[in-house]
Amino acid sequence: MFNLILFGPPGSGKGTQSERLISKYGLKHLSTGDLLRSEIAGQTPLGLAAKSFMDKGQLVPDEVVIEMISSALDNNPQAHGFLFDGFPRTTAQAEALDKLLNQKGTSIAIVLALQVSQEELIKRLLNRGLTSGRSDDVNEEIIAARIGEYEKKTAAVADYYKKYDKVVFVHGEGDVDEIFGSLSKEIDIRDRA
Ligand code: AP5
Ligand code: MG
Repeated sequence: MFNLILFGPPGSGKGTQSERLISKYGLKHLSTGDLLRSEIAGQTPLGLAAKSFMDKGQLVPDEVVIEMISSALDNNPQAHGFLFDGFPRTTAQAEALDKLLNQKGTSIAIVLALQVSQEELIKRLLNRGLTSGRSDDVNEEIIAARIGEYEKKTAAVADYYKKYDKVVFVHGEGDVDEIFGSLSKEIDIRDRA
C-alpha cells in the first residue's frame, strides 16, 4: 500500500492536484471536506452539526472527522493506497490516523506540503467563491478565519511528520501541470524505494 497526505492551507490546490494524483497512482481519494459537504447535502445529523463550524471557517471537532476517516478506511478494503486531502488537520488527528493505519498493517509514506503565499490563497478562494456556492468561500472574513485555523492548529501537523522525516515541501504557485510534475517526482522517488 502507498498512502500519502496532500497537505497545505485552504486554497493551496489540494483538491486540484488530488484529482490528478489519484488517477495517475490508482489511489483512493479521502477528502474530509468533501465527505463533510456530502453529509451536509444529505442533511444527516453529522452534516448538520458540522455545518455550523464550517460556515464560520472553524475546524469540525476531531472525533467527528476521525470517525468519518475510520469508516472510510473500513469501507475500502480493496484500495491500493489512500490519498488524504484536508486530513489530518490537528496533531490529535495525525496520531489517530497513524493508529488506524497501523491496525491495518500500513503507514503514511510521504506528506507532500504545498506552499502558497497568503495573498495568493485569498485571491484564489475569493475567485472560486464567485461560482462555487461554497458557503465558506463567500467573504474575506471567513477565508481569513480558515487560514487562521490552519496557522493555529494545522501547521503543527507538518512538524509532527517532520519527526519521522516524511515531509516534502513543494512550491504550489504557478502552472497546475508543473506543480503536478513536482509532486509526481517526489512520489516516484519514494514509490520505488
Ligand atoms: P476543505 O474542503 O478541506 O477545504 P480547505 O482545506 O479549506 O481548502 P480548499 O478545499 O478550499 O482548497 P484546496 O487546497 O483543496 O484547493 P483547491 O484545489 O480547491 O475543508 C473545508 C472545511 O471543512 C474546513 O474549514 C473545516 O471546517 C472542515 N474540515 C475539513 N477537514 C477537516 C478536518 N480534517 N478536521 C476538521 N475540520 C475539517 O483550489 C482552490 C482554488 O484555487 C480553486 O478555484 C482552484 O481552481 C484554484 N487553483 C488550484 N491550483 C491553482 C494554481 N496552481 N494556480 C491558480 N489557481 C489554482
Ligand atoms: Mg479541497
